Amino acid sequence: MYGLVNQAVQDYLSSDLGADTWERIRTKAGFQETSFVPLQQYPDALTFQLVGAACEITGRTAGELVEAIGAYWVEFTAQKGYGSLLDQLGPTFADALANLDAMHVRVALMMPQLEPPSFRVSQRRDRGLTLAYSSRRNGLAPLVVGLVKGLGRKYGLEPQVVLTKPRTEGSTTDLFEVTW
Ligand code: HEM
Repeated sequence: MYGLVNQAVQDYLSSDLGADTWERIRTKAGFQETSFVPLQQYPDALTFQLVGAACEITGRTAGELVEAIGAYWVEFTAQKGYGSLLDQLGPTFADALANLDAMHVRVALMMPQLEPPSFRVSQRRDRGLTLAYSSRRNGLAPLVVGLVKGLGRKYGLEPQVVLTKPRTEGSTTDLFEVTW
């Protein structure tokens, strides 16, 4: 994944736990440098190692940490100059969820090796919808929960996000019920 993701992990963990604890996490994960280059690609395994090291050091679960990082991502990317992409997602929260693929296509103009997820909205109703999330990567459902909550907050909402149908072997799609 692009370094921007690891940078968000670093920012979130060092502001939550302090710089010294971040240093321990970084060392335990075997990352030798002190910062990440946002537009450089790093192995996905490094991101998972950072989270794994943070779990061991803090006693928090990977699900909890990854969800919290997801919730932080929306404000983090806005700070890093990607706010206009978020502002153009659409006038409502439901529109924004429906436009995530188009947004990642625009991100890919800056990050040509991007391997973005794919989202499909269905069963759209007054204050809810079904969100299908597909990715070649496994284990990121809690990230989606946090991301969708973080995006809802941008629209002044506190959405509930429930994983209703997790992916099984041979499938790459998780289904979520999102209500607000
Ligand atoms: C302007 C804001 C955003 C930027 C710049 C951005 C950029 C990125 C980048 C760089 C990655 C790593 C993928 C790679 O390097 O191959 C990524 C992954 C991902 N993005 Fe976004 N993103 C943004 C907003 C969002 C939002 C709002 C959501 C969902 C609500 C989202 C969902 C995801 C997910 C779930 C992944 C994990 C990769 C996977 O599932 O395979 N992103 N995005």
